[in-house]
Amino acid sequence: MPNPPARTPDASPAAVDVRGLVKHYGSVEALRGVDVRVEQGEMFALLGPNGAGKTTLFSILATLRTPTSGSALVLGRDVVAERDAIRREMGIVFQEPAIEQRLSGRDNLFLMGLLYGLTIAGARKRASEVLEQLGISDLADRRAQQLSGGQRRKLELARALVADPRILFLDEATLGLDVDARRTFWGQVRSLADAGRTVFFTTHYMEEADVADRIALIDFGVIVALGTPRELKARLGGGIVSLTTDDNLRARAWLSEHGFEPEPGGQEIMLLHADPAAVLPELLRNLPVRVERAEVHVPSLADVFLKLTGRGLEGGSKP
Ligand SMILES: Nc1ncnc2c1ncn2[C@@H]1O[C@H](COP(=O)(O)OP(=O)(O)OP(=O)(O)O)[C@@H](O)[C@H]1O
Ligand SMILES: [Mg+2]
Repeated sequence: MPNPPARTPDASPAAVDVRGLVKHYGSVEALRGVDVRVEQGEMFALLGPNGAGKTTLFSILATLRTPTSGSALVLGRDVVAERDAIRREMGIVFQEPAIEQRLSGRDNLFLMGLLYGLTIAGARKRASEVLEQLGISDLADRRAQQLSGGQRRKLELARALVADPRILFLDEATLGLDVDARRTFWGQVRSLADAGRTVFFTTHYMEEADVADRIALIDFGVIVALGTPRELKARLGGGIVSLTTDDNLRARAWLSEHGFEPEPGGQEIMLLHADPAAVLPELLRNLPVRVERAEVHVPSLADVFLKLTGRGLEGGSKP
């Protein structure tokens, strides 16, 4: 295990404390005044579409980029002024591979241990421990390039854990993996959080964000909503009726005339309602069009995002 840091900052600072954070790349305003506080031990998701500013915020917290203005503290330390001191406390999983493809899993972790100043024996021991902890000891002696996408991502996670960091930062860590591999990956990260580690991750998959304790929705460089998954969904109240008809234009017009407020745009008609199950039969009876499909569901994070921004999560962020 690495040595503890030379000095301990104040007793129990927030894991992440970001205030008025602004980042410009030339004329691009990637972050336009972000405030976020993440407590120690929390699993926190930053959810938003392409170009929203996720990687930018992640990179500033991971001390890889400097902000234009505003402040960012990680575990009470300034990401710019005290960069070296906090780097040792954080594990980072990038979207791009960081493991050495030609080395075995074990050697990747062993090297990482040496990089963090462990002795040869210490690094060996730590590599085995982490492999065991993530249940991938069976992959230890295979070259990274021979592993599946999901196995490689686990190895990336293992690499980030070698230094036994207090906080893990992950940027789109499961991009390109199938649903099953993503679920397993986040299950594992969730157990790390349950064991007391702080986790801060970015994603544009809403079902991934659902495993977090709290979620910040980011769009165009600002946080548009923040809360537990349940709180965010409750913001919409009630549920959602989706309808596909043979004449959506006419259906929308009728709905608006009768006091309903269909969400603008989309292939289907979406309707927020306090009691969707009760209103559906009435709609089916009275709509002057043929309803081809009708569905009632509880709001998802994607619905919340759509309601707040007028756009879906999966699409691009530019209007
Ligand atoms: N190095 C850079 N130079 C110029 N503009 C940049 C740079 N990096 C990011 N941007 C711009 O800043 C904005 C935010 O980018 P960022 O990479 O933070 O978004 P993101 O939310 O991570 O998107 P994605 O989901 O596609 O990874 C975008 O408009 C992007 O084009
Ligand atoms: Mg990104």
